[in-house]
Amino acid sequence: MTALYAVFGNPIAHSRSPRIHALFAEQTGVALRYEARLAPVEGLASALDAFHAEGGCGANITVPFKFDAWRLCARRSPAAQLAQAVNTIGWDEGGLWGDNTDGVGLMRDLARVLGAENVHRPLQSQRLLLLGAGGAASGVLGPLIAAGARAIALWNRSADKAQSLAARHSALAAQHGADLQVVLDPPTHWADGVINATAASLGGRALDLPEGVLRPGVWAYDMMYAAHDTPFVAQAKTAGAQAWDGLGMLVEQAAQSYTLWHGEAPDTAPVLAALRAELTAR
Ligand code: ATR
Repeated sequence: MTALYAVFGNPIAHSRSPRIHALFAEQTGVALRYEARLAPVEGLASALDAFHAEGGCGANITVPFKFDAWRLCARRSPAAQLAQAVNTIGWDEGGLWGDNTDGVGLMRDLARVLGAENVHRPLQSQRLLLLGAGGAASGVLGPLIAAGARAIALWNRSADKAQSLAARHSALAAQHGADLQVVLDPPTHWADGVINATAASLGGRALDLPEGVLRPGVWAYDMMYAAHDTPFVAQAKTAGAQAWDGLGMLVEQAAQSYTLWHGEAPDTAPVLAALRAELTAR
């Protein structure tokens, strides 16, 4: 029987994950079915039970379910534990396990776009501003700290969420010698790199950032992606910064999930190129 996988979210119709996993499967010669599944907002647990009963072997979890998935897992990877958010699950003899591949995905794509010489520490000595404190930000803060950032300023519209995210990461930051601070306003003329992990772009709106946050010499990365520049990418480019959207991260986090399930790492470059071409042709 062909192995069954899926991505669960709400909404989910827009998801490119089925396409990405189909391309990986084609490339590696693995027989699988990967579907987009809509789950009711309060109904992830029963949706996953039904999926597993149907023969589901593993799944990706996206907005708004990453925290719910974390709670449901019997075992969690260290990355998922730190994030308290799960984007990849599977079943084995120990029940439901969960991991978070968003951080690996972001780091691999950042290393690519920044042309980092040291792919393991692509952010060595940089000052970073991370915008947002939801599921997306939670998944990447640990890897950003481990990637050698000198200082990370964490900003969120609701400061209390940023505080608890930072508190959870304080030991890791101390271990890596990174200065992790929650800021009430995004600092100006400070960051080397600015990462947008907010969902502000979903409303088609740019963030209201003070002048001097995004500026020439700074790089900017939006974890969202679109056929055209996202509002954040457009805002960054207008301010003279170099900017990229999150399509590469999407492909890289999918590749890491694929490796966890199938034990084989797909070649992401041709898949990213195909996806970008399909997105802009729409
Ligand atoms: P995700 O899993 O994609 O991170 P989420 O958990 O709903 O989704 O978090 C969305 C993030 O985007 C949060 O940091 C949210 O800020 P709040 O914690 O204050 O809600 C942020 N966000 C959403 N819309 C925003 C907007 N218009 N301006 C600024 N931040 C926004």
